[in-house]
Amino acid sequence: MRTQVGIVGAGPAGLMLAHLLHRSGIESVVIEARSRRYVQERVRAGVLEQGTVDLMTATGVGERLKREGLVHRGIELRFARRSHRIDLSELTGGAAITIYGQNEVIKDLTDARIAAGAPIYFESEGVTVHGFDGAEPAIRFTSGGAKHEVRCDFIAGCDGFHGVCRPSIPAGALTIYERVYPFAWLGILAAVAPSSDELIYSRHERGFALHSMRSPELTRLYLQCAPDGKLDDWPDERIWGELDRRFEIDGGWTLRRGPITQKGITEMRSFVAEPMQCGRMFLAGDAAHIVPPTGAKGLNLAIADVRVLARALAEFFSSGDRVMLDGYSQTCLRRVWKVQRFSWWMTSILHRLDGENAFDARRQMAELDYVTGSRAAAQSLAENYVGLPMES
Ligand code: FAD
Ligand code: DHB
Repeated sequence: MRTQVGIVGAGPAGLMLAHLLHRSGIESVVIEARSRRYVQERVRAGVLEQGTVDLMTATGVGERLKREGLVHRGIELRFARRSHRIDLSELTGGAAITIYGQNEVIKDLTDARIAAGAPIYFESEGVTVHGFDGAEPAIRFTSGGAKHEVRCDFIAGCDGFHGVCRPSIPAGALTIYERVYPFAWLGILAAVAPSSDELIYSRHERGFALHSMRSPELTRLYLQCAPDGKLDDWPDERIWGELDRRFEIDGGWTLRRGPITQKGITEMRSFVAEPMQCGRMFLAGDAAHIVPPTGAKGLNLAIADVRVLARALAEFFSSGDRVMLDGYSQTCLRRVWKVQRFSWWMTSILHRLDGENAFDARRQMAELDYVTGSRAAAQSLAENYVGLPMES
C-alpha cells in the first residue's frame, strides 16, 4: 500500500489529523491497535475548549456536538466550605467550554472517515514504524490475519503515551521532561442527573473532588486517591460517602446518587518529549506529551497539535515548502508548555499532598482566595481554561 501520510492511532489526534488531511485532498491510512467498539466506548475526557468546538464545526463534524453538547459559561471552585463561581464568558469576552465526551468526538470523526471511504484499520497487531530517518518511511502491521506494509511520505505518531512511535525514535534524539504526582484520580460515571449546572472543582482536607457530567442524565465524578489505589478498595458506598464529604459547604448541598456504570483509576503525570519530530515522523497528542487531568487539557492539546501538523503537511504537498513542517515541533511546544504550566498549577492548588506541611496548605488556600478574589487572577484562570489561541 502506498499513501501520503501513515497515521498510527485512531484517538482524537489521529482521527482529527486524518479528517483535516482529507479535507485538503491529502491521502492517509489510519492504523489502530484496538477495535472500533473499544475506542468508541473508552470513557476519558469530556471538556472541549472553544477552539476545539470551532474546529469541529468549521470542518463539518460539529453537527451532533452542536445538538448534544452542553455549553458552560462558568465553573465553580469550592474550598473552606464555600463556593465561588468563575464566570468564564464574562472574563474572556464571550468564550465558553462545551461538555461532550471524548468518545462522542471519536464516533463523529470515525463516522466521517468511513463516510469518506478512506482507509482505517482497527485491531491491527504488531505495528512497527521504519525508515523515517530516510526518504521512505513505512508502517508494518497485521490485520485480519494478513500482513500489511504502508509506504508513505510521512508518519504521524498519534498512538498515545504507550504507543510504539515515540519509543522507536533512537535513544538520544529526544529529551524527556517529566513529573509524576503522588496521587491519582478515581473516576466514575453514574446514571443520575448532574447535581449542579456547572463543573465543580473542590479542594478539601480529605483531597480533591470534581463534579462533571456527560449529559442531563449522566454525572461524571472524580476524587483524588492514592497513586497505588485499587478499584477493590473503592466499593460504591465508600465513593459516595467520600464525595459527600469533599463537596460539603455551609448552607448545605446534596450530591445526587445513582447506579455507577463505570469506574477507573488514572495516574497523574506531566510529560514532554522534545522535539516532537524525528526525520519524517511527527509525534502528536499524548504520544508527545501528557498533562495531569485537572483543567481537562489533554484532548484539546492533541487537537491543537494536529491542526498545526495538517496545515504544515498541506503546505508541503501543495508547494514543496518544508518551512512549516520543520517548525512543527517548535510551534507546538510553545503552546504545550503553557498548557503544561496551567495543568500543573490547577493540580497544585487543588490537591492534598500527603505529609504536606502547614505552610503549603496555607499557601494553597491563599492561592484559591486570590484567584476567586482578584479579577486579574480569575481572568488568567479563565483564559487558560477556555483555551489559549490555537497557535500561540
Ligand atoms: P489517545 O486517545 O491515547 O489515542 C491513541 C490511540 O492509539 C489509541 O486509540 C490507542 O489504542 C492507539 N494505539 C496505541 N498503541 C498503538 C499501536 N502500537 N499501534 C496502533 N495504535 C495504537 N484528559 C482530560 O482532559 N480529562 C480526563 O478526564 C481524562 N481522562 C483520561 C483517562 C485515561 C484513562 C487516560 C489514558 C487519559 C485521560 N485523559 C483525560 C487524557 C485524554 O484522554 C488524552 O489526552 C487524549 O486521549 C489524547 O489523544 P491522543 O489521540 O493523543 O491519544
Ligand atoms: C472532566 C475531566 C477533567 O479532567 C476536568 O478537569 C473536567 C472535567 C470530565 O471528564 O468531565
